[in-house]
Amino acid sequence: MTAQGPSLPTSRGPISAALVTVLSGGSPPTSSTAQGVHATDPFGEDLQLALHLCYELHYRGFDGVAPEWEWDPGLLGVRRELEDAFLTALRGRVAGGDDVAAVLEEQLVEPVDAHGVSHHLHDRGELWELREYVTHRSIYHLKEADPHAWVIPRLRGRAKAALVAVEYDEFGGGRPEMMHAQLFADLMDELGLNSSYLAYLNVVPAPMLALVNMMSAFGLHRALRGALVGHFAVAEITTPPGAQRMADALERLGVGPRGSLFFTEHIEADAVHEQVLRRDVIGDLLGTEPDLAADIVFGIQATNLLEERLGDHLLGCWRSDPARSSLRRSLAVSDSG
Ligand SMILES: [Fe+2]
Ligand SMILES: [Fe+2]
Repeated sequence: MTAQGPSLPTSRGPISAALVTVLSGGSPPTSSTAQGVHATDPFGEDLQLALHLCYELHYRGFDGVAPEWEWDPGLLGVRRELEDAFLTALRGRVAGGDDVAAVLEEQLVEPVDAHGVSHHLHDRGELWELREYVTHRSIYHLKEADPHAWVIPRLRGRAKAALVAVEYDEFGGGRPEMMHAQLFADLMDELGLNSSYLAYLNVVPAPMLALVNMMSAFGLHRALRGALVGHFAVAEITTPPGAQRMADALERLGVGPRGSLFFTEHIEADAVHEQVLRRDVIGDLLGTEPDLAADIVFGIQATNLLEERLGDHLLGCWRSDPARSSLRRSLAVSDSG
């Protein structure tokens, strides 16, 4: 049994309910567990939570859930159905193509009239919105760069050496206090939030879960190694300008330097990571495996799609009249999970 994992979350529909029952009661999944997967919204709460439950078994697992479930054939069968529905929906919603250089070039141009989440928080965001944003992101950043580690054995030569160099930074360069996940935990502490791993799983809705599920799918499938690398590259390219705006937003809202270190650290680090990923990882990978071009493009476009969906959700909630919480339950001022 896992001693310190997070608690199993509350279900959000029939599929996640069946999985929670399986994992908490110990009875193996039946053929009906995944029933209705293909009739369910692939980006919806039920499917995304169910998929997140399956993937989390590969990270830290859940309190009271036997680690053996990670490789239970019945559960892996259910996971396969969920991934098929999700990945098919992603592929159906992106433009596709195989011109990696052109698609990467587009990522480097920040629109002058950009109005994303970091612009909102920078220009007029309130503290409660910042706390909500950090709560959403905690589902990923408290395990920052773990999904990307799965790809290491699937790479060779220069691509592998370069990706590991980036991962070394993500994991603090040998200093646990500088692990990016730890810097994010410090930010949460500074904001009076609960920095325990997955403490907010019950309150974070599907758009953020979908982003993390995408990373896990790309990392766990060797066939999707190109998509993982494309995803990693676009995340690094788009981080520095947003990180600068977030650092400014924190300063404006009076959050101390311990809180903003997560963002200030990313301004310079990711400017370097971006170069390494584009030139050394993607460049080398395309040289040895040119057939991966379309998958790299898919990873970039799927990331943009899901980031946009998350941004639309956040801004849609915050800008509605009256403004409403973007979480499934709004945080109390002294919320600690
Ligand atoms: Fe990072
Ligand atoms: Fe980075």
